[in-house]
Amino acid sequence: KSFQECLYKSNNEQKIHSGRKVSIVGTGAVGMACAIAILAKGVTNRMSFFDVNEKWCNAERMDLMHGSLLLNNAQINACSTPQVTEKSRVIVVTAGARPKKNETRLDVAQKTADIMKNIMPELVKHSPNAVFIIVSNPADVMAWVAQKVSKLPYERCFSAGCHLDSLRFRYFIAQRLKVSPRSVHGYVIGEHGGSSVPLWSTLTVGGIQLHAVLPSIGTKDDPLQWGKVHEDVVKAAFDVIAVKGYTNWAIGLSVADIVSAIFENSNRIISLSTNVQGICDIKDEVYLSLPCRVSRWGLAGIMRLKLSKWEKKMLKKSVAALVEAQNGIKL
Ligand code: 2OP
Repeated sequence: KSFQECLYKSNNEQKIHSGRKVSIVGTGAVGMACAIAILAKGVTNRMSFFDVNEKWCNAERMDLMHGSLLLNNAQINACSTPQVTEKSRVIVVTAGARPKKNETRLDVAQKTADIMKNIMPELVKHSPNAVFIIVSNPADVMAWVAQKVSKLPYERCFSAGCHLDSLRFRYFIAQRLKVSPRSVHGYVIGEHGGSSVPLWSTLTVGGIQLHAVLPSIGTKDDPLQWGKVHEDVVKAAFDVIAVKGYTNWAIGLSVADIVSAIFENSNRIISLSTNVQGICDIKDEVYLSLPCRVSRWGLAGIMRLKLSKWEKKMLKKSVAALVEAQNGIKL
């Protein structure tokens, strides 16, 4: 194995469409937050909105188009038929049943899985070479469903997964230490949600590995209780949902970041949810987040992490939770 191959498993290069068309499937609060983040950050100016509620998605289109002069002359189409998404470069799927108060991400699973079963084949028919980013919750399980029903290569059908959890993790750590979150480096892996795993062993702040300063960091023996930071990450969505009923801004920004990593052919390493069978001793075909190398055609590689004992144990729990959730879905 080459040194690179020791660090990450390489995936096969994929064919892609030309252009920069991004389609948003589901124009609720999450879909529209993805749209405005993608447009306002200048990731693209070509979009289509696909939603069962044609009046609604058209109103969203009009509202944005009135400001299109300030969005690089954005061109947006909106329709309730999937044809509007044809020849997309990237498709962001946010359609699904919204979790109610106290409902976990897994509760809404079957309802949303049925929506995936209906729309994925249609979307693939119109954009066979698009990169699909699944955002609908429970994100890991829905990305798995989307891949199963579409037969897309794993590298072109993945979930935004723990990118947002990783952003939240860096934000909360930065707050404690009074540094910029951009100077905090670390990943959250596993399930997007309850059983996510913070990688304390690889966390660095300004080049200092916190684990080397405080070997018990994140464990129950940690006198500084850094584990609370991860609890905050897990609680973050629920704190917002308790008041607003949903979260949308941070997920929208994190999706725009992924789309921009694709368009830039950046090879950035982002925690995203894909089939991780064979990596980190995982035996099952299961979708969960590991740091992945993002290229112009999707996931170009998956990092072979060197986990601590505690992290391995926690990841195992996340695998078990997600395998159970996958098995609970009627495909
Ligand atoms: C979030 O983490 C609810 O998955 C959504 O914001």
